[in-house]
Amino acid sequence: MSEIPKLPRLKTSVVLSKEKQQKLDAVLGPITITEDILSQIMAAFREQMLLASSTDENVRKRSDHLMMNTFIRELLDGTEQGDYLGLDLGGTNFRVVLVRFKDGVAATTTKYYSLTDECLSGPADGVFDFIAESIQNFLTTQGLENSEKKIPLGFTFSFPSTQLALNKQILLTWTKTFKCPDGIGEDPVAMLEAAIERKTKNLPVDVVVVMSDTVSTLMAGNYLDKKCRVGLILGTGCNAAFVENISDIEKWTGDDKDPRHVIVNVEMGSTGDNGCLDFCRSEYEKELDKYSNHPGSFTFEKSFAGMYLGELVRLVLVQLIKDGVLFEGDGGKLVEARWKLTTTDVTNIESDVGDSTTKTRAVLKKFALDTTATDEDLAIVREVAEFVSVRGAHIVAAVMSVLVNYVHLPEVTIGIDGSLYEKHPKFHDAMMEIFDKYSPNTKVNLILAKDGSGQGAAFAAVSALRQAVKGIRCS
Ligand code: BGC
Repeated sequence: MSEIPKLPRLKTSVVLSKEKQQKLDAVLGPITITEDILSQIMAAFREQMLLASSTDENVRKRSDHLMMNTFIRELLDGTEQGDYLGLDLGGTNFRVVLVRFKDGVAATTTKYYSLTDECLSGPADGVFDFIAESIQNFLTTQGLENSEKKIPLGFTFSFPSTQLALNKQILLTWTKTFKCPDGIGEDPVAMLEAAIERKTKNLPVDVVVVMSDTVSTLMAGNYLDKKCRVGLILGTGCNAAFVENISDIEKWTGDDKDPRHVIVNVEMGSTGDNGCLDFCRSEYEKELDKYSNHPGSFTFEKSFAGMYLGELVRLVLVQLIKDGVLFEGDGGKLVEARWKLTTTDVTNIESDVGDSTTKTRAVLKKFALDTTATDEDLAIVREVAEFVSVRGAHIVAAVMSVLVNYVHLPEVTIGIDGSLYEKHPKFHDAMMEIFDKYSPNTKVNLILAKDGSGQGAAFAAVSALRQAVKGIRCS
């Protein structure tokens, strides 16, 4: 197999001393993702997908994927009319979206509501009360609070859940920034409906579908490009969904009416929780996990997702400080600042071009290192940020390549939502390097489905109503 083509990597005129270069290589070398490692990651991922697809429940339990039937079969066809609402809960920002369709063209209005830290770690009822009040506020701003007709609502709920019906799930675990002590084992739709009743009484909404953000992003991506068959989130967390032929789903128990496909939620952020990625986990990933909100789980997304990338970069920098390679061994506040170097900081560092170091210096200012940093320090910080970022992009693209090959079409568009993909200046190109090599028989396009996870929730509400009319089984 040919080599993975290398992106034009950082080109600064700063040349590190031989000794520093060797020490830097000694830290980055062991965490380099070689072709061999990539192939092993892909094989492990493929196996998890197959195990999760088994008809035998005991085999499925061995997988750390869910490959969950979402019951969503209908994609948009350009004839849509009317108003639909979407909710998007998964990160710190909660969104309410109104989509007004006219002859298939969607006009979208979005409003963001910020969840406080107390809410994220308090009782689940508090989260759902917040959602109910936000919907009420949103409807008021849109003049819809007294709508006579109930507005169909799609709910993006981005946590691993068992899907029992189009509008019924069971939450398996909270992830990312959510640490509510309860809610697990409960249905998010029932919790939402109870909160609406408790807090707002007669909101004119009808929750017709609940889904993962990957699913709503796929719906939104497919609205932009009919070749979009895969939805991917590269945000705080990571996950993917794809359109699967019913005839290829061994464990399928639904009807086989048209449309003979369904969206499947892979739920892949947890790949590796069963140890299948132990062969390539670095000390940095293990340390990050130890201090994370949910230790021992969501192994895969902890290698690159937005909640973690900054901390991974920081841990590598701390090692270099300890080795005396950076800041003459005195890294000041950076050494103790767990989670304080964010993925936004990494994106900013990565936005410095050529010899410019303005953005890198601005990030270092947070840690009072901007005035002491030498040109060599700045070059090393930039190189580490790039190395860890490209490493992450390669890892996630490798497993997406498995999915693309599984979908087995000449051309596939992946609709992507999430700030990591949207804002990081090198993620897209680094991912494309992998598709070029590992999915040579498919033309892969990556498109940004911006805010797709909110907008797509409203789109899925359209699917739900259509399916009801056609009598497609939805549970
Ligand atoms: C969750 C997924 C979600 C992904 C992206 C993960 O932590 O488990 O359900 O799709 O984040 O938001």
